[in-house]
Amino acid sequence: MSASGLRLRGKVAIITGAGSGIGRATALLFAEEGAKVVICDIAESGAEVCKEITEKGGEAIFIRADVSKVEDVAYLIKKTIEGYGRLDVLINNAGIPSRGTVLDIAVAEWDRVLDVNLKGAFLCSKYAIPEMIKGGGGVIVNVASVLGLVGGKGEVAYCTSKGGLIALTKALALDFAEYKIRVNCICPGSVETPMRQRIMAQKTPEERRAVELKIPIKRVAKPEEIARAILFLASEESSYMTGSVLVVDGGWTAR
Ligand SMILES: NC(=O)c1ccc[n+]([C@@H]2O[C@H](COP(=O)([O-])OP(=O)(O)OC[C@H]3O[C@@H](n4cnc5c(N)ncnc54)[C@H](O)[C@@H]3O)[C@@H](O)[C@H]2O)c1
Repeated sequence: MSASGLRLRGKVAIITGAGSGIGRATALLFAEEGAKVVICDIAESGAEVCKEITEKGGEAIFIRADVSKVEDVAYLIKKTIEGYGRLDVLINNAGIPSRGTVLDIAVAEWDRVLDVNLKGAFLCSKYAIPEMIKGGGGVIVNVASVLGLVGGKGEVAYCTSKGGLIALTKALALDFAEYKIRVNCICPGSVETPMRQRIMAQKTPEERRAVELKIPIKRVAKPEEIARAILFLASEESSYMTGSVLVVDGGWTAR
């Protein structure tokens, strides 16, 4: 693609949880599309993704932050503005999985999952939106899950956090449409990432194949396939979309 055709040319984009999986693939794609990428992660793997981008000639900085902590999020936004002077795009992607029913999940585990998966997006939006308003508008993409649309057996905290994230998306979309801030969310199905690999490691090869066979497309997604949908929502190509839920699940919820 020619330089003028880059879909995020000159845009400053924060991607949370960009040290791995979907966030990493999104960071690499955004950099290719001309964005100045702020890689946020609680883990040092974010520094490696940053290096990967800059070695290819892209622009990126790594800011270590825990999205569930208000002081970390305030620091993330402050450093972004100090580094790049503005903020155009926020991708709330950081998330953690969790197993358990309401009877067997520990209260501390419930709190942690809700803190990272839902409060993290609330905090990042809270600190990012004033900067977007100053800049004349912006885009937020929340990475929810099909498990925010339908129930998942034995995943009560995760499902609740993702359902909340879908509702947060719609509420934010209404509150900030007049400031030219679009807010959408994406609901991936199964994606081949380190998070999923850790979950699948507990299953036998037969059980793993059975999971794939329940997907109409008969395979899990590559992180890059989710990153492309996030790019669509982050770019002008989706200029008339706000408060929308984009399902990218190989047909899993179409059954
Ligand atoms: N992999 C899937 O099948 C799948 C399906 C649907 C939705 N999702 C969602 O996609 C998002 C990314 O998942 P993934 O599969 O790429 O996971 P991953 O574990 O590969 O990557 C998640 C990244 O988030 C970071 N992170 C975790 N807690 C954080 C915190 N408090 N602050 C900052 N960073 C933090 C981790 O260090 C990691 O680098 C998550 O929100 C997940 O719920 C994943």
